[in-house]
Amino acid sequence: MSENLEEVIKKNKIVVRDLMKVYKRGMKEVIALRGLDFEVAPGEFLSIVGPSGSGKSTLLKLLGALDKPTAGSILYDGHSVTLLNDRRAMLYRRQKVGFVWQTGNLVPGLTALKNVMLPMRLAGAPKGPSAQRAKLLLEAVGLEKRMKHKPHQLSGGENQRVAICVALANKPELLLADEVTGELDTETAKMVMDTLKTMNREFQTTIVNVTHSPRVAAYADRVLRIRDGLIEGQKHTLFGDISEVDAKGRLVIPETVRRLAGIGKRVVLKITGEGLLITPLEMEESNHQEQQSSAEIA
Ligand SMILES: Nc1ncnc2c1ncn2[C@@H]1O[C@H](COP(=O)(O)OP(=O)(O)O)[C@@H](O)[C@H]1O
Ligand SMILES: [Mg+2]
Repeated sequence: MSENLEEVIKKNKIVVRDLMKVYKRGMKEVIALRGLDFEVAPGEFLSIVGPSGSGKSTLLKLLGALDKPTAGSILYDGHSVTLLNDRRAMLYRRQKVGFVWQTGNLVPGLTALKNVMLPMRLAGAPKGPSAQRAKLLLEAVGLEKRMKHKPHQLSGGENQRVAICVALANKPELLLADEVTGELDTETAKMVMDTLKTMNREFQTTIVNVTHSPRVAAYADRVLRIRDGLIEGQKHTLFGDISEVDAKGRLVIPETVRRLAGIGKRVVLKITGEGLLITPLEMEESNHQEQQSSAEIA
């Protein structure tokens, strides 16, 4: 890689490289992310837009350390999120990240005010200052008259704004939002997005907002388009498949890859500095003919 990764890390809050996620459903593998590279600057408001099934929620879960990637890395302030153990992942989520999902994560029995106070109280903050900050946040999203209402007494848009306040209660540096306007009408969606924008400006919270709506995405400073687990415009570094080595060391090489690499029934394995080099046996036998047709598996 020719980039100066250290420089990139220094300039950015988040640096994502070669991020891949493969889910297993019984015998079948679903490749949700096929190798993503991108950065998020400190205080940036980034939208990730893409059709349903393109890997957006998967990506957000990995950014929030709610799941681990199959390969690749996420660096947050230069530290690997993907290598955190369970305890440290929990601390990262608690101390750095706020989440807002499509369906509100509010406690039904509590008022808006109490809902926003809850994460602060759980983190050990005293009652007075927690209430004060909760009020400040709710005022910032225009809900000063709704603080004593419970979720069922509030509209969808109001609940989403309360949820944003809950996510921001403990002053996270990073806010991850997944389709938060998915079930809202245009007018309400606008209000919620304006709220995110205000929070981004006022508290310098870095935001990654995932949506399938280009109109919603346009609220951000920058938009990344993702399709079939790849960022549009980025070249596909994989051959279209990831292979897994089973307990006996067996490896399935997809047919297209075998064809491209000229691999037949017998191969020669060689360990190189970059990984494993698999060369067709026929070619190895006549290897004075300098043919370059091989597959490398890192
Ligand atoms: N837990 C899971 N197990 C198996 N497959 C999954 C799981 N989560 C997501 N997928 C699959 O991964 C792909 C990407 O899903 P997702 O990240 O939810 O996309 P999006 O949020 O863009 O709609 C889809 O094909 C989906 O079916
Ligand atoms: Mg999703």
